[in-house]
Amino acid sequence: MTDLYPLAILTAFEGAGLPRPQFRWFETLPSTNDTALAWLSEADAPPDLAFVVAGQQTRGRGRMGRTWVTSATGALTVSFLLHPHAEALTRLPLLGALAVCAALADFGIDATIKWPNDVQIAGLKIAGVLAEASWIGDTLRGAVIGIGVNLNEDFTGTPLAATAGSVTPLTGRAIDRAELLAALYRHLAHWCARIDEAAFFAEWRARLNMIGQPVRVTHGDDGRGLVEGTAEAVDPDGALIVRLADGRTQRLIAGDVTRLA
Ligand code: BTN
Repeated sequence: MTDLYPLAILTAFEGAGLPRPQFRWFETLPSTNDTALAWLSEADAPPDLAFVVAGQQTRGRGRMGRTWVTSATGALTVSFLLHPHAEALTRLPLLGALAVCAALADFGIDATIKWPNDVQIAGLKIAGVLAEASWIGDTLRGAVIGIGVNLNEDFTGTPLAATAGSVTPLTGRAIDRAELLAALYRHLAHWCARIDEAAFFAEWRARLNMIGQPVRVTHGDDGRGLVEGTAEAVDPDGALIVRLADGRTQRLIAGDVTRLA
């Protein structure tokens, strides 16, 4: 049994004053992103912010080909469908991370963003975003923003114990998944309409937690690229500017950042 069933979702949206959403709910699904991408390719295009939500994922996918493992009721796993213009695609992961932070703030929870789109509490990753586009030749059919929020996952004794955490153990707050989903939807809708505005970028940037700090960044397709320096700034495309020891700067468009002690 799950707390995240269709009636609970509709009730949460109504309670939040939101319009009735279009969504597909599954108790268990391999990956909400896979199902959302398949929905995008159906003849009747789903509207913006239609979503696929699952009580549990069995083959969740993460960034850089990683897996995203969640238990039956310990996480919110959802994928929103969008029809952005192609230039906005690189901002979708940032949009997802910003919406998670803003939604958690509605519950009195302070979360920050580890560049570019991991959401953290107390230095532990509690949410991730996987944005994927669907193309027909050169034409953008649409995009999917997949979001996983760990609410009650237990990483004790796993390889993730040092880097991953869950909202409830970290904050003492129990969060209803349907209510969090409604809050997420509301903030996505707000910022999605403003994704080309400076305010969107400023809100995302204001939540970054490593600017000014010494960092190590692994990057590249095989994750073997290594940069160390000070995370100086992000540029208007969301790329991270790292100041190296010799005074030069390096610009990174993707990678995994770790704070150096
Ligand atoms: C990351 O590596 O940080 C991104 C994780 C994204 C996980 C979410 S859970 C819902 C959606 N469905 C998936 O298969 N992945 C994303």
